[in-house]
Amino acid sequence: MAMEEKIDQLKAQAAEAIQNAATNLSELDDIRVKFLGKKGEFTSILRGMGAVAKEDRPKIGKIVNEAKAQIEALIAEKNEALKARALEERLAKERIDVTLPGRRQPLGHLHPLTLTLERIKDIFFRMGFSVEEGPEIEQDYFNFEALNLPKDHPARDMQDSFYITDEILMRSQTSPVQARTMQKNKANAPIRMIAPGRVYRRDEYDATHSPMFTQVEGLVIDEGISLADLKGTLELFLHQIFGEDVGVRFRPSFFPFTEPSAEVDISCSNCHGKGCNVCKGTGWLEILGAGMVHPHVLEMSGYDPKKVSGFAFGMGVERIAMLSYGVNDLRLFYDNDKRFLSQF
Ligand code: PHE
Repeated sequence: MAMEEKIDQLKAQAAEAIQNAATNLSELDDIRVKFLGKKGEFTSILRGMGAVAKEDRPKIGKIVNEAKAQIEALIAEKNEALKARALEERLAKERIDVTLPGRRQPLGHLHPLTLTLERIKDIFFRMGFSVEEGPEIEQDYFNFEALNLPKDHPARDMQDSFYITDEILMRSQTSPVQARTMQKNKANAPIRMIAPGRVYRRDEYDATHSPMFTQVEGLVIDEGISLADLKGTLELFLHQIFGEDVGVRFRPSFFPFTEPSAEVDISCSNCHGKGCNVCKGTGWLEILGAGMVHPHVLEMSGYDPKKVSGFAFGMGVERIAMLSYGVNDLRLFYDNDKRFLSQF
């Protein structure tokens, strides 16, 4: 009978499709819809039952239902098989080798200049100093004039800087923070501060020079501050940073904003005073500029030099870092080469 043949054919087609065509669950579902769905092949056969002779209908109906049940069973079987395969694939793909060593998280750390600055700050904090800040783009007035360096003063040549306008420049020293702090205090209070920060000068870029470097300024103002306070403070500082056995000496010098002025040296850490190429044969290394605050500088920023006195100092952080870590090229601090930085 043609009808029965057609059903057999459909059943075979479905079985083959399930067997071969279905490689994943969505394909399998497409096959299910194609044969068993509401608009599927078998449904359309059942719909066409009107054309079948009455006495044949139960028989045909039975064959169709059996065929459908068989196909459903095949689909269910395939469904299980595909699911099992998918799980196996996933297990294989997502397998974790628990014996592999963990991946280390690379940890950064503070830059050697920051470390040095922290040590410097620590020592002054313990002596009761506070921290002041000033802008790196500074007024000529604070950088020079308020420090006793009027326009065309010859000592300005020592600190040729980068001018933005005639009145504004990249600060050539942290000393302007002296004048700023005094004026902020309006002569009302004693001062005991340090001011760390970057400074700029027109300079070479080589092993010992850079157009940008870091200074720490210091300023103490109170009644009865003397040169002995300056000497004691700086000696204590230098002994703490370079060790108790380091030699310290004060040499007369000149800065327009201090009087008297001194340059402070430490004994050469390389040759311990004997003389070598690091200290150019002198046995000493220059480390600080310092002096008693010039009365005119006090006056210009509102303090009465008859009532108070003070001392100031300035040091280069790079130089201190180079000496304490034994670094012989300043540029290493700015190159950000990890091979260098990871050593600290
Ligand atoms: N500002 C001076 C310099 O950069 C250093 C200094 C600071 C000297 C304070 C005396 C007092 O050379």
